[in-house]
Amino acid sequence: MHHNERVNFGSKIGTILVAAGSAVGLGNIWRFPYEAGNHGGAAFILIYLACVFILGLPIVIAEFVIGRRAKASTGEAFNILSGGKPWKWVGYLGVLTGFMILGYYSVVAGWTLEYIYQALSGTFFGKSSSEFIQMFQEFSTHPLRPLLWLFLFVLATHFVIVKGVQKGIERSSKMMMPVLFILVVVLAVCSIMLPNSEKGISFLLKLDFSKVNSEVFLGAMGQAFFSMSIGMGCLSTYASYFSRTTRLSHTAISVGLIDTFVAVLAGLIIFPAAFSVGVNPDAGPSLIFITLPNVFQQAFSDLPILAYTCSVLFYGLLALAALTSTISLHEVSTAFLHDKFSLPRKQAACFITGGSFLIGVVSSLALGDWSDYTIAGMNFFDALDYFTAKIMLPLCGILVALFVGWYLKPEDVKDEVTNYGTLRERFFPVFFLIIRYIAPVGIFLIFMNELGLL
Ligand code: PFF
Repeated sequence: MHHNERVNFGSKIGTILVAAGSAVGLGNIWRFPYEAGNHGGAAFILIYLACVFILGLPIVIAEFVIGRRAKASTGEAFNILSGGKPWKWVGYLGVLTGFMILGYYSVVAGWTLEYIYQALSGTFFGKSSSEFIQMFQEFSTHPLRPLLWLFLFVLATHFVIVKGVQKGIERSSKMMMPVLFILVVVLAVCSIMLPNSEKGISFLLKLDFSKVNSEVFLGAMGQAFFSMSIGMGCLSTYASYFSRTTRLSHTAISVGLIDTFVAVLAGLIIFPAAFSVGVNPDAGPSLIFITLPNVFQQAFSDLPILAYTCSVLFYGLLALAALTSTISLHEVSTAFLHDKFSLPRKQAACFITGGSFLIGVVSSLALGDWSDYTIAGMNFFDALDYFTAKIMLPLCGILVALFVGWYLKPEDVKDEVTNYGTLRERFFPVFFLIIRYIAPVGIFLIFMNELGLL
């Protein structure tokens, strides 16, 4: 396809929902609430908001500039804009990172399907907390069962991708995102109405600056980046489908607001319910796959139908959130094969689906039968998570900021941000200052901190 004829998202709302779909994911529903709760509640949320709006949004806009300017997915965009200079490797790094994340993220996404199935078949009834632990451990280390769900999840992602940009990605986001918003609000209201829910609310919302230290700042920045899908090529790939009239600043702000809204509401689902039954919320996968089903059973012990409904709805919410994110990850690699090697979309999608399924299989087995095989002391699943989220993501983030801040011509960046001179966008000098100086230094600090060098 000639670059100028690139397909566009059909509507403004579709554009926002697609980008927000990438951002809202598993990261919002278990990682954010835990981080917020343990790092000073509302104080963390304030710092997180500052990270989203001061540092995150300018990089989101920078990724949008790259994708729409080049009219090509991330993998080719750097190549086109730099005329084949070594900057093209930044694009390839983004594609590789997205592809690797897709592999292990789909494993956890598959678990949500198992839990929808278990919730629907009513197996949560009457289980004790130790039985929930046992259930999760047996399932996640099982050699075959998680692979079945992984396969189904990857297939669902594939199905959307092969339908195309407008009929697949945009249409599915327009259907799934409103359902996701409704689910998150309904579940938060149910949780808040439980007896003693105030303790959970104050745990999350009480301004407590005593727990704020440099680690909290850096943790909030890392969370903001992962949550907004920064540094993995998703945003610039999606921006290559933006129309010339899409206002980059407004789209970025909408994504930031929606992502934060869902994260805060996820906290309002988890903490009031957990505190209401006196359960101490844990971190990581165990929070959503062990603690929560247990909490729902106990919280609604008088009304089993409500426990049943909340469990089904909660895992449905997780699956939707994960699916809109895996779609965006899949699209980065599929569009790359399509743009770079002119492979038909369907064929490109088949390669990526097959490849990500294989990575998923190895990641899943690494939690069970293959846990003895390690890389740098970690099993394959943890190693993938570590290398992508902690090393490749910040690296791509810095390189994006440097590329837009120092390599691209400032007039070209301004041209793109102002929709070719048709908008005023008074914030441009501030945006450019952040992209040139503040963002590279800020991300460098996160990077060093996460590597334990700071
Ligand atoms: N932002 C997603 C989340 O919070 O779960 C995860 C994600 C999706 C990260 C897409 C990166 C990405 F490219």
